[in-house]
Amino acid sequence: MIILGIETSCDETAAAVVVDGIQTLSSVVSSQIDIHHPYGGVVPELASRKHMEAIVPVVTEALAASGMDSKQLDAIAVTQGPGLVGALLVGFCFAKSFAFALDIPWVGVNHLEGHINSLFLEENPPPFPFVALLASGGHTSIYYVTSHTGFEVVGQTRDDAAGEAFDKVAKMLGLGYPGGGVIDRLATQGDPEKIVFPRPFLDKSTFDFSFSGLKTAVRRYIEKNMDVYQEQIPDIAAGFQESVVDVLSFKVVHAAIMKGCEHIAIVGGVAANNRLRERVRHEADLKGLTVHVPSIDLCSDNAAMIAATGYHYLTAGTVSGLCDDVYSRVRVT
Ligand code: KG4
Ligand code: ZN
Repeated sequence: MIILGIETSCDETAAAVVVDGIQTLSSVVSSQIDIHHPYGGVVPELASRKHMEAIVPVVTEALAASGMDSKQLDAIAVTQGPGLVGALLVGFCFAKSFAFALDIPWVGVNHLEGHINSLFLEENPPPFPFVALLASGGHTSIYYVTSHTGFEVVGQTRDDAAGEAFDKVAKMLGLGYPGGGVIDRLATQGDPEKIVFPRPFLDKSTFDFSFSGLKTAVRRYIEKNMDVYQEQIPDIAAGFQESVVDVLSFKVVHAAIMKGCEHIAIVGGVAANNRLRERVRHEADLKGLTVHVPSIDLCSDNAAMIAATGYHYLTAGTVSGLCDDVYSRVRVT
């Protein structure tokens, strides 16, 4: 089954052509980072306008790169939520209209399920069941994954998402948006033990997370050290990152042990973090567990993961209708 995937939930306009949920023929991502960078975060209205401009060229490019004609498509899968409503609507309405014009089925897909299914676009995907840490700009949760469409929440953030904490700390340090990549790079030049920040909920009593207190601790440190903090930015970045990574790696490994799973996956934008990848691998190794992490391109938002997820719904007979709408917030089912 040849599926065109479309993703416009936040600040990336993406389209991809994927065969049978596993083979990526093309994947095109048009990022809006330059537009939102000066604001230190995504400006929803600007995002929607940019998606409007980009959607037709991005889909055209994905089809051309796949070597497929639109008439060869069997179906379309599109992100239905969660995300920015105005941004989602651009991809969703485009998918609806395109599928109608081509007279093929289409299905709305949960973006978070997409991140988990990104694992199956790589070689050696994890066998079910496994435990997955999904850490992105909008979500941070641990799931017990029983199938391509079956998930149970084991723990989740009670306030900020991990990626959001990276972005907010980067903004405080004047590093622009998005903050994850730049903190990841700067942290390699700093000492993670020089400035030690709190480790929220670092115990086995819950698999939930909290990053808002950590963010406040960084803000307080900056306020108290206004005259010197500029020279300490690599140490602040390393100290902050180490705190996030400590909590994420500890929780995902212990969730896997609690659930009796031998396989762990980390997905979402924050899974691109080098220290997190290294630490989860190390902690998992000590416990004899296997770690699966998608390549960097598949960690951040893309449409191949949406097509891969849509495949499993479509083959099970689930299709969307013209009256279906997008949603801004929802937990993975
Ligand atoms: O999954 P994603 O592309 O979009 C959402 O669904 O939110 O994740 C974006 C988030 C941003 O908060 C960004 O700062 C973070 O992922 N991120 C990183 C890294 N690369 C991206 N966080 C830490 N280290 C990185 N290397
Ligand atoms: Zn995402």
